[in-house]
Amino acid sequence: MSVSTVKKKPAKKKAKKVAPAKKTSKKLKATAPSKNNVKPKLYASLVVQLLSLLKGEHDFIANAANFSALLFSSLPNVNWAGFYFLKDDELVLGPFQGNPACARIPMGTGVCGVAAQRLETIIVPNVHEFPGHIACDVASNSEIVVPLFDGERLLGVLDLDSPTIGRFDDQDAEGLNELVTVFVAHEERLGL
Ligand code: SME
Repeated sequence: MSVSTVKKKPAKKKAKKVAPAKKTSKKLKATAPSKNNVKPKLYASLVVQLLSLLKGEHDFIANAANFSALLFSSLPNVNWAGFYFLKDDELVLGPFQGNPACARIPMGTGVCGVAAQRLETIIVPNVHEFPGHIACDVASNSEIVVPLFDGERLLGVLDLDSPTIGRFDDQDAEGLNELVTVFVAHEERLGL
């Protein structure tokens, strides 16, 4: 089984020491965006967009729906993005974008149920190697599941699928955790 879990925010990697660039290429190197900054920049912009979508709206379903649509329309190579919320010890399908999905997932079952049970973000580079993976879309090859907490209380999970093997990494985990924190903080202020 190929799985990685993220409990805490991953520590930022130390910058690699590189030889000084030649004079002619220095300007280009300084202005060209580093590949490592692409995802953090995208997630930073999504935080701003999410805050703007949430502003002034108090309906939880409307906010969750817009959040899933924002992720689905902004993140490349994603074929499903949405929520499962914890109800009576079971995960029940919430707002999402993508193909129709299974309505209920028992705790400990599938990637979502395991992430909810372990209270951890789970990155699955290849879903076909994850025992018990629930295939809602045959196009899905990798997945990330991020739990949502109100304090210590589990509210549910955010689930993203991709047709690309190895699509999700620690930068996605960090960015998505920040986004769900922003989302839950907004709902908490409104009395979740
Ligand atoms: N693959 C998930 C089920 C939900 S769908 O991907 C939308 C899982 O194994 O829990």
